[in-house]
Amino acid sequence: MTSDALTLPKAELHLHVEGTLEPDLAFALAVRNGVDLPFASVEELRAAYRFTDLQSFLDLYYACMDVLRTREDFRDLAAAYLRRAAAEGVRHVELFFDAQAHTARGVPYADVIGGLQDALDAAAHLGVTGGLILCFLRDAPVEEAEEVWAEARTRPEALLGVGLDSAEVGNPAGRFAPIYAEARALGLHAVAHAGEEGGPEYVWDALRELGAERIDHGIRSLEDPELVRHLAEHGIPLTVCPFSNVRLRAVDRLADHPLPAMLAAGLHVTVNSDDPAYFGGYAGENLEAVAEEFGLSAAELGLLARNSVTASFASAERKGELLAEIERWEGARPRE
Ligand code: HPA
Ligand code: ZN
Repeated sequence: MTSDALTLPKAELHLHVEGTLEPDLAFALAVRNGVDLPFASVEELRAAYRFTDLQSFLDLYYACMDVLRTREDFRDLAAAYLRRAAAEGVRHVELFFDAQAHTARGVPYADVIGGLQDALDAAAHLGVTGGLILCFLRDAPVEEAEEVWAEARTRPEALLGVGLDSAEVGNPAGRFAPIYAEARALGLHAVAHAGEEGGPEYVWDALRELGAERIDHGIRSLEDPELVRHLAEHGIPLTVCPFSNVRLRAVDRLADHPLPAMLAAGLHVTVNSDDPAYFGGYAGENLEAVAEEFGLSAAELGLLARNSVTASFASAERKGELLAEIERWEGARPRE
């Protein structure tokens, strides 16, 4: 495929590295580590990719993670993702990882971040930059988050920031406020999933209780005009994931996705892939699909790409390079 959306230089800001575990790799790692997956074949696993909501996905997502055991596994997972992303025009990526889901199984935190960083270091050859965002699981006891944070805080330089994910509804952000305050004091960035299945109050919470600089998903923000005003006025980015929202039934069909309304409301929207192995496409395919569905022009695609760069935590110099690349991409397109 060589469509515009796939060649467009861009940043991927909402990507759970564990959600890039393709079935082939899951089975290869299961064999390597002697782990039994609860599926007889790649086809059987793929057939389980029928989700009714966020929780139905999370159940499978956490089950498959069991094959990730060693530093090499995390390196191979991230390296496969980075190769694929680079081929789709991704030039900068901020990888979410669910540390607790691994440390709770006895995998050392150092092996998780070590393997992921090995892959990021090697990706310099692909022209891809990036970093790691440690996500806390909002549906697990806060003590678990505190435990992993106690280790992570001793080497904050290994991270770009902290995030919050897993089951949203009924798991308000406030419990994580002390950890976020510490993380911000250490110079780390703060992001949080909110407004995916939960209403606008979850987005307010992420902003007020956690000091979130970016909201992951945030699609239900549109239900609260005051929140929309606040997000637009402060230029708070929303990392939207169209395929994820369709697959997890947050919207019925891509045609019903609020992306156009969010752009029309002046929100700083970016398009991302969330868990691409499970949801049917990486950053390029998500962009390509919304471009086709909503008839986006090259200028609108350019805006989404610029949004992804300006919303990123890349250095000012790197942002400048990427914005210049996008400008060159736009210059090479016929005027509409
Ligand atoms: N939402 C919440 N938690 C997650 C997701 C998501 O889309 N993907 C992986 N963990
Ligand atoms: Zn997510």
